[in-house]
Amino acid sequence: MSQKIDDIDRIMAIMAVAFDPEYGEAWNRRQIEDALLIGNCHYLLAGEAGAEALAGEPIAGFSLSRTGYEEEELLLFAVAPQFRRRGVGQQLLARFAAAAKERGARRLLLEMRRGNSAESLYRAHGFVQIGERLNYYRSRSGPRLDAITFACDC
Ligand SMILES: CC(C)(COP(=O)(O)OP(=O)(O)OC[C@H]1O[C@@H](n2cnc3c(N)ncnc32)[C@H](O)[C@@H]1OP(=O)(O)O)[C@@H](O)C(=O)NCCC(=O)NCCS
Repeated sequence: MSQKIDDIDRIMAIMAVAFDPEYGEAWNRRQIEDALLIGNCHYLLAGEAGAEALAGEPIAGFSLSRTGYEEEELLLFAVAPQFRRRGVGQQLLARFAAAAKERGARRLLLEMRRGNSAESLYRAHGFVQIGERLNYYRSRSGPRLDAITFACDC
């Protein structure tokens, strides 16, 4: 249990710096705790080189996903700004895909706001657009943004 609390602390440290407040995508601690309580959510922590972080080591990024029937949805995916463009996100995405497949997923899903720079990373991994919700998100400064859904077969 204390390991999980420590991991949530490390996730929240990344959450605080990785998401642009303009888009309101960061979760609060309660949301993370609730997701992990339910039992169908899984997280991965990335060390500075992208591989699994050692216990107690500060992390560079994390992912949080939710398992459904033969599918796993990536809910949160973030790397701290000072560790970006070094392949950490790419490695984390590959680790997420492998772990989801091991849990029985046959398809990976995710949703992002249109224009997120993560799109090229997702496409390079094999994700393709399967849907869109026009004007789905409202940004802090006002304009509405489309949501795009991507999927990738395992
Ligand atoms: C998306 C995110 C996780 C990428 O992490 P990262 O560690 O920088 O990713 P990588 O270094 O592995 O990038 C791999 C490739 O993805 C693409 N990419 C990543 N960030 C990019 C950017 N800002 N602009 C353009 N391409 C980008 C590039 O092709 C990159 O390869 P390259 O650096 O050799 O050109 C990170 O930018 C982030 O945390 N963003 C804020 C949170 C967020 O929006 N998460 C996604 C929610 S849907």
